[in-house]
Amino acid sequence: MKVDGIATRTIWPADDGKTVEIIDQTLLPHVFEVARLRTVEEAATAISTMQVRGAPLIGAAAAYGMALAMEDDSSDANVAAAHDLLLATRPTAVNLRWALAEMRAALLPVAPNRRALAAWMRANDIADEDVEINRAIGEHGFALFRDIFEKKGRPQRLNVLTHCNAGWLATVDWGTALAPIYRAFEEGLPIHVWVDETRPRNQGASLTAWELGQHGVPHTVIADNAGGHLMQHGLVDACIVGTDRTTATGDVCNKIGTYLKALAAFDNGVPFFVALPGPTVDWTLTDGVAQIPIEQRSAREQSHIAGLTGDGRVETVRLVPEGSACANYAFDVTPARLVTALVTERGVCPASREGLASLYPEHAQ
Ligand code: MRU
Repeated sequence: MKVDGIATRTIWPADDGKTVEIIDQTLLPHVFEVARLRTVEEAATAISTMQVRGAPLIGAAAAYGMALAMEDDSSDANVAAAHDLLLATRPTAVNLRWALAEMRAALLPVAPNRRALAAWMRANDIADEDVEINRAIGEHGFALFRDIFEKKGRPQRLNVLTHCNAGWLATVDWGTALAPIYRAFEEGLPIHVWVDETRPRNQGASLTAWELGQHGVPHTVIADNAGGHLMQHGLVDACIVGTDRTTATGDVCNKIGTYLKALAAFDNGVPFFVALPGPTVDWTLTDGVAQIPIEQRSAREQSHIAGLTGDGRVETVRLVPEGSACANYAFDVTPARLVTALVTERGVCPASREGLASLYPEHAQ
């Protein structure tokens, strides 16, 4: 997608062939800066501090982290050490585990002196595959939006609500939930996006709003608690969100607050779509609430907030009184029964074991 009109990915191998460059998402929307990752430790830190974030991008960053590790030491022991270091960075998004398993499978059969090259090749493939997957999700999701637009008699505005950031910043390119929005915008559908600010890290207010703005997509940032009210008043035609881990039975785990939006959508008859690439499905799980590990992050992300001062500096200030405890649950689980449909690179299906198995028969067992 574009930054100041220039096509940009969120992560790419640097020109020196030995390091990786990323957009540092902790600085957005006020500062656009590219950061360089030189070691697997730096890659792990970039993931855990959320310089890169979003399930698919975490997977791609981990893959490149393995390539950085192989440049340094391509022994079997270091394949295992780098794998474990990266796997420990964030617990919820399963794309991380998937990408690391792919890397290990690509590296272990290869002689150590050829592992660095093999790692760069597989990491580049994972990044390219992510772009292609998301482009396809965009096509399938766009068809859903077009149907709603036609069924509603071509309204002046098609209002779509999204939570967190599941746009191109959360992936290598295109995004998952935002890919259909970009396609709809390109096709001339009069789409307007309600952007949940997404406390506490404000990925909606700072990232989704920024990337939609870069593309000229009409949008309005709302407080997280506004969605139910908008739905009650007919101001939301559809919701679409991403997911960090989806069970084989269609439960979806996404940014904290997604579940409440799904409840409100269900109560108001608003379609609630979840966009996901195949690698986001955890085929080993059948009960999202009971089985998906929910990341708890630092209380400081809850008690403090960053913003731009009047004189142009980015500053972090305290929001919560000293001494008040804060709990920072980063994700929640939306049961499959609240999800209207899953939008994948292979098409649209019901959020159910049968639905997913129909699109991914190779995993049906
Ligand atoms: O904590 P984050 O910012 O990594 O969480 C991101 C999300 O919850 C996204 O909705 C999810 O990764 C799907 S992204 C395509």
